Amino acid sequence: MSPKSLKAPRGTRDFYPDEYRQREWLFDCFRRVAHRFAFEEVDAPMLEEADLFIRKAGEEIVDQLYHFEIHDHHLALRPEMTPSIARLVIARAGALRMPLRWFTITQNWRYERMQRGRKREHFQWNMDIWGEPGVAAEAELISALFSATDEMGLPRGTVRVRLNSRALLEESLRGGALRDRPEAFEPLCIVIDKLEKIGPESVLEQLTAPKGGIGLTEESAESVLALLGARDLDEAAAHVPDDSAALADLRRLFTLLDAYGVGDQVAFDASVVRGLAYYTGIVFEAFDAAGQLRSICGGGRYDRLSETLGGKAIPAVGFGFGDMVIAELLQDQNRMPELPRRVDDFVFALEEDQREEAIRLAARLRSGDRRVELALAGGRLKRALADANRIGANQIWMLGPDEAERRVVRVRDLLSGEEREEPLTE
Ligand code: HAM
Repeated sequence: MSPKSLKAPRGTRDFYPDEYRQREWLFDCFRRVAHRFAFEEVDAPMLEEADLFIRKAGEEIVDQLYHFEIHDHHLALRPEMTPSIARLVIARAGALRMPLRWFTITQNWRYERMQRGRKREHFQWNMDIWGEPGVAAEAELISALFSATDEMGLPRGTVRVRLNSRALLEESLRGGALRDRPEAFEPLCIVIDKLEKIGPESVLEQLTAPKGGIGLTEESAESVLALLGARDLDEAAAHVPDDSAALADLRRLFTLLDAYGVGDQVAFDASVVRGLAYYTGIVFEAFDAAGQLRSICGGGRYDRLSETLGGKAIPAVGFGFGDMVIAELLQDQNRMPELPRRVDDFVFALEEDQREEAIRLAARLRSGDRRVELALAGGRLKRALADANRIGANQIWMLGPDEAERRVVRVRDLLSGEEREEPLTE
């Protein structure tokens, strides 16, 4: 093996025990909250037919796909969980009781340009509700998101959600620019999503480029940008019809979020459109309030994905909450817990003659659900004590010829240093 092949591929992650414990702690927070909201956990293969992920709207995520041909199949590592969830739902749509609430915690792959909180491998907690068209579903999901940050010990105000509705944008263009070409809406959203990155002039250029697939007039493109600048719902109202359903949904959603006690953590932001093609309605993103990091969580309503993939129409909404940006925030805020290795007992036989007795003792302790390390070699007691302390054991159980003879074991509490003898029972 060359030294090069000993290196992990760039952007992938190794988890040594300390890091693995932190990862499990985070996943446990996700799981506890998901269960409190009565979501059921599901899973699917990390490998899917590449077609499941390939869309033509110009999304970054499609360009970032890890994919390959094998035995006449074009396969890809999943960059996100939503298409797989859709595949699972579509396959059993007739039998599943709606609305259904599913969650997943999965590893995802994207060939990203790396930066703080972004790698090519990441884990995501997804929470999705299928079969509910109303914003009650969005409200439930956003409140679950804050329950998760509460669960992690982050004070309220550390994480904020910015929220918008793509339907607002669609309404503002309906009857106008996109009447004859509704298919231009998805690429239009993908371009708008780049506003912060590429600036308004490049966005205008891409929206109006005759060959760009969107082809808005200068005037329509300007009005799109004006809507994105709306600072609150009242300003947004000026851009949509008086009977705007999207605006009514947004107002209702804010009322519901207040009832959950999270309304003050969520703000309307007309510039949030999200970079994935399938969203159709409410979209939202969670950020650290200080604005130092990339998005912690992103989600929205995707009512047409099922049909796009060949299933029947089923409304759906959900979010993906990454493990990396939140870890950065927890570190910054000194909220990432130190999680030492936990071992209850260290069992040590001084000589090979006491090993079988030590094995039986360790088995008895383990059957009581204790975490037990059995020293695999005898030797000096001093060394065993040092080992027991190093692994953070609470007690050491010591068996030498004298103890075996008297049918006892010497137990030392490693915190207090107190020692006692216990009988060696069968
Ligand atoms: P997304 O915005 O692409 O949405 O990703 C959701 C979250 O995953 C991001 O906010 C971020 O925390 C994390 N994330 C994404 N890419 C990376 C990366 N390369 N490195 C580290 N973290 C990353 C989705 O994936 C949608 N499928 C979410 C969804 C579920 N929408 C509806 N249901």
